[in-house]
Order: sequence, then C-alpha cells, then structure tokens
Amino acid sequence: MPSREQSRPAAPGPPRSAAPFKVGLLGFGTVGSAFATLLEERAGEIERFNGRRPLLSGVLTRTRGNFDQILSEADLLVELIGGIEPAREYLLRAIRAGKDVVSANKQLLSQHGEELFETAREHGVRLRFEAAVAGVVPVVRVLEESLSATPIERIHGIVNGTTNFILTEMAQGSSYAEALADAQRRGYAEGDPSDDVSGRDAAAKMAILARLAFGSPVHLDDVRYEGIEHLHADDLQYARELGLGLKLIGTAERRDGGLSVRVHPAFLYAGHPLASVGGPFNAVTVESEAITEITMSGPGAGGRQTASAVLGDVVSVMTGGARPPAPPLALPLIEDVANAFYLHLDVVDRPGVLATVMQVLGEQGVSIKSVVQRGMGENARLVMVTHPILESSLRVAIERLGGFDFLRSTPRTIRVIEEEFT
Ligand SMILES: NC(=O)c1ccc[n+]([C@@H]2O[C@H](COP(=O)([O-])OP(=O)(O)OC[C@H]3O[C@@H](n4cnc5c(N)ncnc54)[C@H](OP(=O)(O)O)[C@@H]3O)[C@@H](O)[C@H]2O)c1
Repeated sequence: MPSREQSRPAAPGPPRSAAPFKVGLLGFGTVGSAFATLLEERAGEIERFNGRRPLLSGVLTRTRGNFDQILSEADLLVELIGGIEPAREYLLRAIRAGKDVVSANKQLLSQHGEELFETAREHGVRLRFEAAVAGVVPVVRVLEESLSATPIERIHGIVNGTTNFILTEMAQGSSYAEALADAQRRGYAEGDPSDDVSGRDAAAKMAILARLAFGSPVHLDDVRYEGIEHLHADDLQYARELGLGLKLIGTAERRDGGLSVRVHPAFLYAGHPLASVGGPFNAVTVESEAITEITMSGPGAGGRQTASAVLGDVVSVMTGGARPPAPPLALPLIEDVANAFYLHLDVVDRPGVLATVMQVLGEQGVSIKSVVQRGMGENARLVMVTHPILESSLRVAIERLGGFDFLRSTPRTIRVIEEEFT
C-alpha cells in the first residue's frame, strides 16, 4: 500500500508556458504611463503565480502607434484614453475581434455601457472596469463576485475625491472658494472642476455601480444629481451643532419595486460609516439584509493608484477570474423618494412666525425632529431637521412658505441620511 506521502498528488503550480500575454495600451497619459511602468515592474511576479508574463505589445496615443496593428498583436486591450470617441469605437472593434478589454472610462461606461456589455456578451468577451468607479477601492469586483449571490438593497458612496476634500476643508472653516483653490493647488481638482463640483462625475460612477448592484441598465441621464457649489459654510457649522457632517453622497437603492439613483450633498450622523471618510478619499457602503453593511474605502484617484486597479483587471482576465457581462434586468426608475431634510430659514423675528412655519410644514406632512432657533437682531434663523418626507411634499411646503413676508431669503434644504450602523 502506498504511504500517505507517496499518494499525495504533486502540489499544483502555475502552468508552464513560454508565450507572453500581450497587452495593447490605448492612451499614455497620467494613468496609461503609470500602468506601463507598473506592468513592467510586476511582470515577473505575475508570471510566477500565473505562468504567463504580461508584456506591453503596443501603445497608442494621438501621435504614436497604429490601432489596427496593436489590435491584431494583442491578447487584451487596455483603454486609458478617456471620453467617448474614439474610446468607444476602439473598444467595440476590439470586442468584435474577440479580444478581452479593460477600461477606466466612467464617461463611456455610464453613457454607452449597455452597448459595450451587449457586444461583449455576444462575442463572449470579458470587459473589466474596476478603475472607472471609486478609484482604487475594489468595489466592482466585490459586487460582481463576492456579493453576486447577495440581494443588495442600497449603496451609498463617496465616489468623488475632489468634492470630499473640499467639504472636509469647509467643515474646518474654509469657504467654498478657498477649499476649491486649495484642491486645485494640490492637484486634486482639475483647472475646470465643473464635472466634479456639479456632481456629474459622481453621477456617472453611481450609474455604473447601480447597473452592477441591481443588474438594471442605468444611463448617466437617469441619475438626478446636485453638486456642492451652492453650499454655505454656515450650513456646516449649524449642522455640527445638530451632530451632523456633510458629504457628497451617491445613492443607488431599491425603492417601491423600482430603483432610485441620485447624487446630492447629504448630512450624516456621526455613527454612519461614511461620516469619518475625509480628504480626497473614496468609500462605498453596500447594504443588504444578509450582510448588514460592508464599507470599503481607499484613495479616490492618482496615476499609480488607478494603474494598480487596471493591472488587477488585466491579471483577473489572465487568470480566467472574470466572466462576460450578464444580460440586463430592467427595473423602473423612481423619481420621488422620501428623505429626512435639514431646513434653513432666515425669518423676521416676530411673534407667531415659528408657529406659522410649523403649521405650513405640518399641512404637507413634514414633521420636525430637531430645531435650533437663533436671534440675529431683527431677524431670526430657524435650522431644523425633519423626519423622512417625500421630496415633492417638502417642495410644496417650501413654495407655500415663500408666500409669507416674514421670509428673508430663499429657504435652504440639504438631505439627511438617517441610518446608523452599530
Ligand atoms: N487620472 C486619474 O487619477 C484617473 C482616475 C480614475 C480613472 N481615470 C480614467 O482613466 C482614463 C485616462 O485618464 P488620464 O488621466 O490618464 O488621461 P490623460 O492624462 O489625459 O491621458 C489620455 C491619453 O489618451 C491619449 N489620447 C487622447 N485622445 C486620443 C486619440 N484620439 N487617439 C489616441 N490616443 C488619444 C492621449 O494622447 P496624447 O498623449 O497624444 O495627448 C493621452 O496619452 C480616463 O478614462 C479617466 O477618466 C483617471
């Protein structure tokens, strides 16, 4: 009889293969050049556990390389050009040629994702895009693989590092303009920061996350978004008195048999897992009855950091860990959702004003959880937090308040996320 030692099969090792795994690179800017460097640095280690050595087989920029030649030579294409065209055309041509593809392009995926997913499915090709959402935080793979059997109810994300940095600075007393200038000095914000501060960049990422988490096609145009440009530093100070911190939050959640995807500034209570995420960091919280909640956080951008997420996708394809995209399952989009609100009113300080405000709010079903009233000479400031109320009902209440002469300025509202996890 063979001994236990003799009967044990040989330890599995990486398959031996001489053929390198050829990677064609489209774009050689901040991320593309960092990716090329990282690929070279890590090639030996990847070969050691995978049996094949990744090799950069061609590079395309506006002035260098030939797309057809790069496509014909590569086993996989990495797209780091950004924007819609020609990135879309190149990716479609690669997929139709049966090549696996990796992209970090949130604009493209949030506007043409279904076309790309459908084409990849038809051709049995893998399409990976970890770096398109939440920078280096590996949320795409967690949703696609680790949580693929978990029915997800809600995702909250801080998915734009620029705005998170600005809000962190404002919470420490900077004005919006000072915090934005600081973000630009440190390289966190572009010269034209409008996509970041308007919430559009975060909306693109939430469209991609919602598609992943709920399987339903979500286009960037389906996401309602608000930015941070209109926020006042004193809102942050009042909110601190109420125990709240301010973040630009993306939400994708099941509501009333449908799906709501939105981005807006929101106050969080200190116990929320996203409340402590400061500076240019990103974080995503996934909620499900089965898992309560999981929060992942990490750097939101940066050439080398983003390149490491891209290389992770390449290795995932090399090791066969990724599948072609699943077919969509359409859910209706829900526009009007209930939220708790922070409400800031500047009013004339005279008897009966607070009672009238409460009556108008009460008529629309708005009930108040906490209120801070402060006299300011002849005026007074009423800052309150409501219990959850449909956005449309609060809008009606605010329009009605606008008809009273005691209002000194346009009421300000900011949503409040109520949940705390312990
Ligand atoms: N930067 C980050 O921290 C970060 C983080 C997450 C995701 N991303 C995503 O990563 C992608 C790349 O971003 P990046 O910051 O590296 O961009 P980038 O620095 O502007 O680089 C873009 C590259 O694409 C090339 N390119 C532009 N148009 C082209 C065309 N028509 N044909 C061929 N090549 C073209 C450029 O070539 P030339 O050199 O000839 O101009 C350049 O090499 C984007 O989708 C971005 O959203 C970036």
